[in-house]
Amino acid sequence: MSDESSADRSAGNAETRAANWAEIWEGGLRADLREVLFDAPTIHDRVVEMGRAITTHYTDRANMANMGDKSPLLLLGILKGSYPFLADLARTVNLPLTVDFMAVSSYGAGTKSSGVVRILKDLDRSIEGRHVLIVEDIIDTGLTLHYLRENLRGRGPASVEIAALLDKKSVRKGKELEDMNARYVGFECPNEFVVGYGLDYKGRYRNLPFIGVLRPEVYS
Ligand code: IMP
Repeated sequence: MSDESSADRSAGNAETRAANWAEIWEGGLRADLREVLFDAPTIHDRVVEMGRAITTHYTDRANMANMGDKSPLLLLGILKGSYPFLADLARTVNLPLTVDFMAVSSYGAGTKSSGVVRILKDLDRSIEGRHVLIVEDIIDTGLTLHYLRENLRGRGPASVEIAALLDKKSVRKGKELEDMNARYVGFECPNEFVVGYGLDYKGRYRNLPFIGVLRPEVYS
């Protein structure tokens, strides 16, 4: 991604191009990122596909549930990393739905999972009888989602499924892999530390419209 045109292509549409990604890339990002893994158009196309699949899956269920004016489908975004994915995905799901958020911490400020999941912000409303679709940026060890899914199942929802943009599947082995399977996955992700499109390192890089691999020198 050395010239303006490839930087702009990775950044995607006109609004994001307005940020002049070529300049931003040359002005510092190039030193931090090793490569762009998924550019903005690739992410966009995949999110649209996921939205279609989700619409098909929940159409019957939403129709079946007789819940008056209470929408049975809830998109549950896990803060903070899921926010761009949730915003884009929600606009591709052609069904009545509501959105809620939870914030959990599992990593602290580093790059390795601590295995300890803490709920920092809980749901605003009850999920009893609702179809809950957890929207997450990335599955790594699966510890965070495993904990969350079990926690939510205890609250009486009609169903709990997972939509993850990225899955570092190769990290998990045997039972761990069987235990943590998302119904919807955008892309399989290599076992590298990635940033952008919501994903951060120490709070930075979430605003990148593409997903790139962070150079190990940045975090080691
Ligand atoms: P898990 O519990 O190991 O599956 O970790 C999931 C959480 O770790 C994600 O929601 C991210 O916040 C974070 N995480 C895992 N891998 C990465 C990465 O490559 N980049 C940024 N955050 C990551």
